[in-house]
Amino acid sequence: LSKIEIKLSDIPEGKNMTFKWRGKPLFVRHRTEKEIATEATVNMAELRDPEHDKDRVINPSWVIVLGVCTHLGCVPIANAGDFGGYYCPCHGSHYDASGRIRKGPAPLNLEVPYYEFPDDETVVVG
Ligand code: FES
Repeated sequence: LSKIEIKLSDIPEGKNMTFKWRGKPLFVRHRTEKEIATEATVNMAELRDPEHDKDRVINPSWVIVLGVCTHLGCVPIANAGDFGGYYCPCHGSHYDASGRIRKGPAPLNLEVPYYEFPDDETVVVG
């Protein structure tokens, strides 16, 4: 399937759910207010792959990224690591709650796929 439709009400605030999309893991994260505030104020100078949070999300409550570590492709663990986002256990890459690389060997942020919200309850990825 080239597109996947996800019902947002199935994902409580603070949770990350993993789906399979085009043979890869897809993370859909319902961020807390605290996570939204934290990621909105990160200093670009601290980032290895500088991208503002607002350029990575459509709706700040939802982070949608591929669950593929940009180092060598392992699947990171959600809600883990030093930056509260994702942690890749293969070689220790830490991502924040915007999916941006913050520490460890991975060179790039987690990839944001094309997606849209056809209504308040649904996201379609692909
Ligand atoms: Fe994730 Fe190496 S594959 S840190």
